[in-house]
Amino acid sequence: MNDEIQLDLPPILDGEDKSSPFANSIRKNYRHIRKWAKRTFTNAFRLYDREVHHYPLAIDFYAGRYCVHYFSPTRETDDPPLELIEETARVLNAVLGASPQAIFWRTRAKNKATRQYEKLGKFEDFFTVLEYGVKFKVNLLDYLDTGLFLDHREMRHMIASQSQGKRLLNLFAYTCSFSVHAAIAGATFTKSVDMSNTYTEWGRQNFELNKISLKNHPVVRADCLKFLDDEIRSKETYDIIIIDPPTISRSKKMEQLFDIQLDYISLLSKGVKLLSKGGLIFFSTNSRKFTLDKTLFPHCRVIEISAKTIPIDFRDAKIHRVWKIEGHEYCIS
Ligand SMILES: C[S@@+](CC[C@H](N)C(=O)[O-])C[C@H]1O[C@@H](n2cnc3c(N)ncnc32)[C@H](O)[C@@H]1O
Repeated sequence: MNDEIQLDLPPILDGEDKSSPFANSIRKNYRHIRKWAKRTFTNAFRLYDREVHHYPLAIDFYAGRYCVHYFSPTRETDDPPLELIEETARVLNAVLGASPQAIFWRTRAKNKATRQYEKLGKFEDFFTVLEYGVKFKVNLLDYLDTGLFLDHREMRHMIASQSQGKRLLNLFAYTCSFSVHAAIAGATFTKSVDMSNTYTEWGRQNFELNKISLKNHPVVRADCLKFLDDEIRSKETYDIIIIDPPTISRSKKMEQLFDIQLDYISLLSKGVKLLSKGGLIFFSTNSRKFTLDKTLFPHCRVIEISAKTIPIDFRDAKIHRVWKIEGHEYCIS
């Protein structure tokens, strides 16, 4: 599967220079994660996660390129100070030999509600990364997100490990990373649903990149809320359902605003109706304010499993939350 692609993990260059806490932190993190990356055949991971106070950055390594997120302390501007840009370039070059062309700065969307999935550029600069040996197309220039949410890596791995012989539904599938992992791990059927043409096409390409036929792994462009009604009507069932929606989404393709805090009730209630006997829903959100009211699902067993899904390279334990929802077996009626 990964015969043509090498991991290309750079060596550590200035192992003895301990003068900069920022450089030390990157070096220490990389030394730790490099061993893990080699073992797991992964070359997309977080290298630095706001460890040093004066360097409010997250730096992600994607197969020899560096994606840098700036967290403005004042929130007045999203633009990093020039000195920080220069120092980051100097440190990444000194520690890992990174060239300035390999460093990509990303600024957060000013208005997340409306710009979350907007296209930023037209460079079409796609390249391939590996995650547990599975290939994914990523792009650090053209979109607000890269094509692979690194914080969900362990959740993908965990779900893949339960997917052999299973039917899986991936809602809000984005570039189908959950489904591709599951298909490689032996899922007999996956269906991936997303409203975006761009991402459904990107998702199909991720299947093709891994030489998986789309015949048993359809990728559907649809509004998930409407899709669920149609799927319930057609009496489809699934062993595993992934529901990982955005916090808020506004789109011309949707009749109304999607709000996770309101819409999760309908999503989960409908999802439960599609579960086969013993089936599981994995529900995830990045919203820090979100609350899940278990009493709304009296016939289900709802367990928060967030702690098990935070990868070793993420320092922020609240980067996302995940619940496992068991349906039918717990039905009273
Ligand atoms: C947070 S991302 C999902 C990330 C994905 N689960 C992953 O881990 O790679 C949200 C996705 O939901 C899609 N989306 C937003 N509203 C939608 C809707 N009502 N129906 C279907 N897809 C929607 C967006 O196009 C985007 O790809």
